[in-house]
Amino acid sequence: MNIIKLILSVMAAAVLSSCSNTQPADVPQGNTQLVSAQVSQQKSDAQKKTDEKKTADKTGEKTGKAVGKDDEPHSDTLVVYFSRTGNTKVIAEYLIELAGADSYEITAAEPYTDADIDYNNSSCRANREQNDKTVRPAIADPIESLDGYDTIFLGYPIWWGQEPRIIDTFLESYDFSDKTVIPFCTSGSSGISVSEKNIAKLVKIGEQPEGRRFAAGTDKKKVKEWYDMLPAAKASDKLTLTVNDTKLTVTLADTKAAKELAEKVRKEPVTVKLGEYGGFEKVGKLPWKLSADDESVTAKAGDIMLYQGSQMTIFYGSNTWSYTRLGKVDDVSSDELAELFGKKDITVTLS
Ligand SMILES: Cc1cc2nc3c(=O)[nH]c(=O)nc-3n(C[C@H](O)[C@H](O)[C@H](O)COP(=O)(O)O)c2cc1C
Repeated sequence: MNIIKLILSVMAAAVLSSCSNTQPADVPQGNTQLVSAQVSQQKSDAQKKTDEKKTADKTGEKTGKAVGKDDEPHSDTLVVYFSRTGNTKVIAEYLIELAGADSYEITAAEPYTDADIDYNNSSCRANREQNDKTVRPAIADPIESLDGYDTIFLGYPIWWGQEPRIIDTFLESYDFSDKTVIPFCTSGSSGISVSEKNIAKLVKIGEQPEGRRFAAGTDKKKVKEWYDMLPAAKASDKLTLTVNDTKLTVTLADTKAAKELAEKVRKEPVTVKLGEYGGFEKVGKLPWKLSADDESVTAKAGDIMLYQGSQMTIFYGSNTWSYTRLGKVDDVSSDELAELFGKKDITVTLS
């Protein structure tokens, strides 16, 4: 009888220890809920009060701001992310570069310690928070306003199959009804879909295109493949070139200088006087210097190049020289451009 009892208690201990050591990444949704329910019961009233206080503390804190290049916000796209161990931050940084976006990192007013995210400990802070949909951890230096941003990439790690509760704090703090919110996440293996549904239910969002889950360490090329597919990215790789009342569409090049140019002219269209040069191009000075990454290129009709960092040249013929690509006028022949430009100096507007 005693032996049977011993065997039964060893078996019970084994089952319990395998539950508490199960990595979240491997927990199917059903099991996650089971573990969650257990954790939930362990939550003491004192802990609940701490969580409530944290939510209340959110107001009245000093406010933070988004940063762009030179530490000043400048884009209409914002990459917001929360990343406790750095995986999501790496993806966010690729997106900031790809979109030429401003950025804002969500940090908790009470930072998450290693013990706080020790998911093997069922009563660790992260587990407790994830088991209570009403917890709203306070954000340190919340961004004052999202005015001026049309598109917001929202990045986070998956915690127990969902977005961390601090993402809910962020979402409930602003009005997203006229914004596009594009979620992205990193995880051990769980997908993004549960968190996407949670986000859509939590607040009113203008548009929420399908988000994307990345594994930790995903390279920039993969992130770019996803970014390039997004409607926001597609729309944003075009500019308009106006020459003598004729409007031409320009497809931007995949260079830093082209992104900088796009950001600037979207804020305020720029008009540039271009002089005739060599019987193959019109060239003129831009009001700013852009990040040149020159290479020897054979420019063809329609190509728009950056020359010596601050001159823009538009080709109606061909020339081989050291340039940084800015873009290309869509669907236009050499003859059509030569006729439109004429033989003299011209004034063009980029918008
Ligand atoms: C509390 C906690 C819960 C987690 N839950 C899951 C999960 O349910 N599924 C999963 O695939 N990964 C899970 N993970 C792993 C993280 O999603 C993964 O390591 C992520 O890349 C961390 O992102 P970060 O470095 O930006 O914080 C969890 C990690 C923690 C700390």
